[in-house]
Amino acid sequence: MGRQLAHLLAQHNNRLILFARRQQELTALAEQLRAQHCEVLTIAGDACNEQDAAQAIATGIAHFGRIDLALLNVGAGPEQRMAETPVADIRQCLTLNYLSLVNFLPPLITAMRHQPADECGLRGTIAHTNSLAGLIGLPMQGPYCAAKAAARLLMDSCRVELEPQGLKFISLYPGFVQTERVNQYAMPAPFAISETRGAELMLKGLLSGRDDYRFPGPLSWLIRLAHILPTFIRKPLLRRLL
Ligand SMILES: NC(=O)c1ccc[n+]([C@@H]2O[C@H](COP(=O)([O-])OP(=O)(O)OC[C@H]3O[C@@H](n4cnc5c(N)ncnc54)[C@H](OP(=O)(O)O)[C@@H]3O)[C@@H](O)[C@H]2O)c1
Repeated sequence: MGRQLAHLLAQHNNRLILFARRQQELTALAEQLRAQHCEVLTIAGDACNEQDAAQAIATGIAHFGRIDLALLNVGAGPEQRMAETPVADIRQCLTLNYLSLVNFLPPLITAMRHQPADECGLRGTIAHTNSLAGLIGLPMQGPYCAAKAAARLLMDSCRVELEPQGLKFISLYPGFVQTERVNQYAMPAPFAISETRGAELMLKGLLSGRDDYRFPGPLSWLIRLAHILPTFIRKPLLRRLL
């Protein structure tokens, strides 16, 4: 989705910093974006590594002078049944889906607080790709749900604390998106949307001005409904996903 979104952002005269682990993939994407006359900086690094995250922010600021929007998009939620998942795998899931966000937040907040504000008083926006799974405890996805829920609450706290200082925090909540990775999972993926549609809706969320942007609509409403159902109805319904 990040790759698709980069293509959309490139069409709107943005300058982009691309961060991921594989330099070869970054270089290939950067070449495509530069052909669209987009200025691109690539930085290879691991979001789960605190130093790599801090270095990426410093390099980006040194190159472009400021970062207006940071989309923290790293994460994955493979099938993990609690009876069969070792502690190490749960920790790894937490690192990928929660600590990868944590590693970027303090350096980004520090950098953005020192940037001049625009005419609306905004110094910078930090967006995070959460998941509808971060709103409810799903079977087979416990560690992922828990990590994304932690990320949701951290973003909520940041919003309360730092909006008065000109920082905006946006949480995007996709449902199932048919990326190459997700297509390999055996889990059911109701209301799945294409990768292109996923990126379009992420962009819509970033432009919406909303704190939280959930999509697609039908799955988002089902999760809202699940929250208001009494537990004795909700639990057997969720068990049917097993
Ligand atoms: N697809 C879905 O159905 C779905 C649904 C809800 C939420 N989401 C969330 O949406 C986000 C994107 O998902 P996706 O399906 O587009 O993922 P994806 O297809 O697996 O792509 C992940 C991207 O992140 C990079 N990446 C992965 N681990 C990294 C790390 N440790 N450090 C730096 N970069 C890393 C990968 O590049 P490298 O391998 O080169 O590092 C790749 O470019 C995730 O947060 C996911 O939880 C996805």
